[in-house]
Amino acid sequence: MCGIVGYIGQLDAKEILLKGLEKLEYRGYDSAGIAVANEDGVHVFKEKGRIADLRAAVDQTVMSQAGIGHTRWATHGEPSRLNAHPHQSASGRFTLVHNGVIENYVQLTREYLQDVELKSDTDTEVVVQLIEQFVKGGLDTEEAFRQTLMLLKGSYAIALFDLENKGTIYVAKNKSPLLVGLGDTFNVVASDAMAMLQVTNEYVELMDKEMVIVTDKKVVIKNLDGELMSRASYIAELDASDIEKGTYPHYMLKEIDEQPLVMRKIIQTYQDENGKLSIPGDVAEAVAEADRVYIIACGTSYHAGLVGKQFIESWAKVPAEVHVASEFSYNMPLLSEKPLFIFISQSGETADSRAVLVQVKKLGHKALTITNVPGSTLSREADYTLLLNAGPEIAVASTKAYTAQIAVLAILAAVTAESRGKALGFDLVKELGIIGNAMEALCDQKDEMEMIAREYLTVTRNAFFIGRGLDYFVCLEGALKLKEISYIQAEGFAGGELKHGTIALIEDGTPVIALATQEHVNLSIRGNVKEVTARGANACVISLKGLEEADDRFVLPEVQPELAPLVSVIPLQLIAYYAALHRGCDVDKPRNLAKSVTVE
Ligand code: M6R
Repeated sequence: MCGIVGYIGQLDAKEILLKGLEKLEYRGYDSAGIAVANEDGVHVFKEKGRIADLRAAVDQTVMSQAGIGHTRWATHGEPSRLNAHPHQSASGRFTLVHNGVIENYVQLTREYLQDVELKSDTDTEVVVQLIEQFVKGGLDTEEAFRQTLMLLKGSYAIALFDLENKGTIYVAKNKSPLLVGLGDTFNVVASDAMAMLQVTNEYVELMDKEMVIVTDKKVVIKNLDGELMSRASYIAELDASDIEKGTYPHYMLKEIDEQPLVMRKIIQTYQDENGKLSIPGDVAEAVAEADRVYIIACGTSYHAGLVGKQFIESWAKVPAEVHVASEFSYNMPLLSEKPLFIFISQSGETADSRAVLVQVKKLGHKALTITNVPGSTLSREADYTLLLNAGPEIAVASTKAYTAQIAVLAILAAVTAESRGKALGFDLVKELGIIGNAMEALCDQKDEMEMIAREYLTVTRNAFFIGRGLDYFVCLEGALKLKEISYIQAEGFAGGELKHGTIALIEDGTPVIALATQEHVNLSIRGNVKEVTARGANACVISLKGLEEADDRFVLPEVQPELAPLVSVIPLQLIAYYAALHRGCDVDKPRNLAKSVTVE
């Protein structure tokens, strides 16, 4: 979702801003813009569409040592050049970029801006106009900014530029991510460290309701009462090559291929010196002491949570529930006496999950975040964190984070089981090693996956994924992958539910992808395949070695069946990838979607 960059220093700002915005492209956006200042004034360039379009529109002769930039994912007002950020105040003195949603913008317009003609349809423009109104009323810029922030309801990350003080960028944050990056002769602002890794890897985190005065030499953090805050910087442990595509045509394909490596890294990370699986003692204790675990997540992370719940219940014998974060806030179930909340989030910034975290912390409950991003909001605000160590995931469609989440949940459940004296019945370290090898073998069979995608999904308007037990959860994920990048209407169903309604949708040629990796439901899912085939479906069965039948389209390598989701999802990821490719879709940046969903 929207991204912010800012630079103030000695180098040409526009190139740094444009490169920064390119690094934020993965978050999803539909328009972009930059504003740079020099002795002639502020120069604003905005375009609907891609950063490449913006780059083409930027006047390369304009030199400047300060500026702000933005990628916009439309919430208020259609994606257009007019609604793209930066927005300017009526006089043109103030220029501002904003991520998030200002919930009370209508009310603020009514109360403070009746005489101001707003140029855009955005909630953002209200902020910059308000600042100007306060300055007109006699406040200096910093105070006007502070007064404005105090009026805002909702979420924001803001960077503000004042034409009459070109040596400063004013920054603020509430609920939307924002970092300040430090350099010797410059400072930067970014929604995400990756954007400014080109110039620095040293960052300062900002907390909610803080404002920052950034010059090329100084970074001054204050709370909204105007009190100075001190904060140590940290080094972002990111390798610039981690965020490059290398020879891959798409990040998604690179990230699918990275899964075996991620499995090995996770095994290493969560092993003690004797090779035994281990997680930090306080986390293990928190799970072991809980009388019920509530897993909260969205999208793919929710699907990983469904698999994780099985591990926690069947291995550790702790009751567990999985909830979609956006529903949980207003649909909270009756909680147990000693609950533990587990938040699963690749980005650690998902606003819906964060809203629940805030809610449950207020109730005094303990929370653990499982995330790929150290220092992310969900990690900072929870009591405990377990990291995925999957490396940056850039493609909007989550792949390696999903398998990493399942593996970390498996380790968490296994360690808890052991601490509660429950036997697993197999050696998880060994089995995860086998999974890594199986993943590698699957990633080597891309031609086969491309053929399946061509055969079943090239000309279709819909597709169904069916499975039972753990396979059902993987089907939900397979369908999400396919729909989000190929725009084929895809749904995952529990095999047993078909006859209760969904089977009515089956007609001649409807693609039905069925997973058969679980012995105890194998006969039943085979029965479901027969039912849909009898009604004309084009069924594609993917089975686990040992359970295969003659007509199965693809057989997965043999793995521990409870861990089968870690391998059965790989063909589904690859099939979705090739289906999207065949249909000419923008695989890494699907329409309307954002990588990091930072608004509720
Ligand atoms: O960063 P998170 O894991 O919290 O993100 C949750 C979902 O937005 C995310 O998984 C989304 O569903 C992906 N685009 C799916 O590929």
